[in-house]
Amino acid sequence: MNFQNWYFVVVSGEYLEKMRAISREAYEKYVKSDVEKIFKGKEKIIKETRQFFYTLGNAPVIICAYREKTVEGELTDIQTVAAAIYNILLIAYERGLASCWMTGPVWMEEEINRILGVKGKRLQAFIPVGYPIYNPPIPKRKGDKVKWSGWD
Ligand SMILES: Cc1cc2nc3c(=O)[nH]c(=O)nc-3n(C[C@H](O)[C@H](O)[C@H](O)COP(=O)(O)O)c2cc1C
Repeated sequence: MNFQNWYFVVVSGEYLEKMRAISREAYEKYVKSDVEKIFKGKEKIIKETRQFFYTLGNAPVIICAYREKTVEGELTDIQTVAAAIYNILLIAYERGLASCWMTGPVWMEEEINRILGVKGKRLQAFIPVGYPIYNPPIPKRKGDKVKWSGWD
């Protein structure tokens, strides 16, 4: 149906500073308690996650990914934008840039949309983009994620 129901606001400068402040607030109000529960005893992860929300990785740019409503329903609408986000992450990597898919700040959607002047669209993710100072290690993959049917 070729909806192309994505919309991106590419943020820098003073607006980025505002988004950083909002990301901090989102962490303290909505994210912190889950992170501290999920990563109990793993102080390094807790500290680094907090740090990332506070700084947005010191990225010079963030892309705010939005979805527009279509007749297909929210499940499709979200997946369309998720696919677009993943393509952005891959292309950024290919061009030597680093990025991070963040849904945590979406807790503050209303305030973010007000500041960015976006109406009638739903915020889906923040994507800080910048040049990495190092390549983070790749976490171990969990196994048993594919079932092969009809292969015998
Ligand atoms: C839907 C989604 C939301 C995410 N939200 C956040 C976030 O709010 N903050 C953050 O630091 N990372 C966030 N991430 C990034 C993950 O923490 C992780 O860095 C990324 O998925 C790659 O690592 P993995 O292969 O271990 O998942 C998110 C990732 C996805 C797919």
